[in-house]
Amino acid sequence: MALPDPQPVLFLMEAFRRSQAMFTAVDLRVFDHLQHAPLGAAQLATLLKANPDAVERLCSTCVALDLLTLDNGLYANTPAAQTYLVRDSEHCLIGYIEYSQKALWHLWSKLPEAVLEGTHRWEQVYGSQSGLFDHYYKTEEDKRRFLMGMHAYGLISSPQVAKAFDLSAFTHLCDLGGATGHLAIAACQSDPKLKATVFDLEQVLPLSKEIIAKAGLSDRIGTAGGNFFEGALPPADLYSLGRILHDWTPEKITKLLRKIHAALPPGGAVLIAEKILDESGTKPLWALLQTLNMLVVTEGKERRFSEYQALLQETGFKDIRYAVLPNSPLDAILAWKNT
Ligand SMILES: C[S@@+](CC[C@H](N)C(=O)[O-])C[C@H]1O[C@@H](n2cnc3c(N)ncnc32)[C@H](O)[C@@H]1O
Repeated sequence: MALPDPQPVLFLMEAFRRSQAMFTAVDLRVFDHLQHAPLGAAQLATLLKANPDAVERLCSTCVALDLLTLDNGLYANTPAAQTYLVRDSEHCLIGYIEYSQKALWHLWSKLPEAVLEGTHRWEQVYGSQSGLFDHYYKTEEDKRRFLMGMHAYGLISSPQVAKAFDLSAFTHLCDLGGATGHLAIAACQSDPKLKATVFDLEQVLPLSKEIIAKAGLSDRIGTAGGNFFEGALPPADLYSLGRILHDWTPEKITKLLRKIHAALPPGGAVLIAEKILDESGTKPLWALLQTLNMLVVTEGKERRFSEYQALLQETGFKDIRYAVLPNSPLDAILAWKNT
């Protein structure tokens, strides 16, 4: 009897090697060294103070991974590496790569225990018992790495989320847990009359202000510090929640959505940016890997549209629509206080 194709198993057996090859080339700054001109393995090895044969193996692997090209013995960045893997690039994804390598990699190594117990792995891996975001923000370096990682992803998704629905009726957006402000920035860039507030934990705001100023939008986007589960929310006719609901339990989500509903004026709405699982719960793969990620790092999970709809209806929202955004790490949901 012919054996089934072993490819799915063989591919997954070594898939982690691909990630680690890219993580290592980023960590050693291979792509940064190649950003202005191609170099040979020996020259790169001298710059990296590394073993020439090992550098050649790493770089040739990056060629096979479509991150480098090799021509006449010289390695060069592909357009994707030049855009996303060079530290000076405005679209640099290195924050998230470093967060993946330095935090997620270790937490994912405990996925079996997470599945057995159904809980995140911060205590098991890092030994401390604190609030979820205290883990991310333990040091200034950890905080910046996490937030800039989120930011780089946000630069891909937010321009699409901001245009997923007609938001022209709204005058003031408040992005709850808005972090670096990328969604508020994208929304204000697409609607010149919109004003916004980025609301987040106090310790996040210096970075929010820095990024908003860099975008030249400090006159239209303010910041406010606080805990969105406690106290009043800044006034707005549109609240947004980008990658917030997937962090929390249904009890915390309904508490937050009720607060938002109560704070909205008539005609107000909430905009949610999350990757939505399809109704079968088995697609897309990106959302499924993210729901496992949520298992090892948070109290939450990814959800189907019908699950978001139920949470929104339970908390009083009406006319709930969603848009699946092609090539975006996030989709969008809009729900109104009243129709
Ligand atoms: C997963 S990040 C998403 C950030 C941003 N919305 C984005 O999409 O890039 C969650 C954000 O919520 C903020 N946050 C967590 N708990 C919060 C709370 N209780 N009150 C206000 N902000 C909070 C975090 O500081 C962080 O910026």
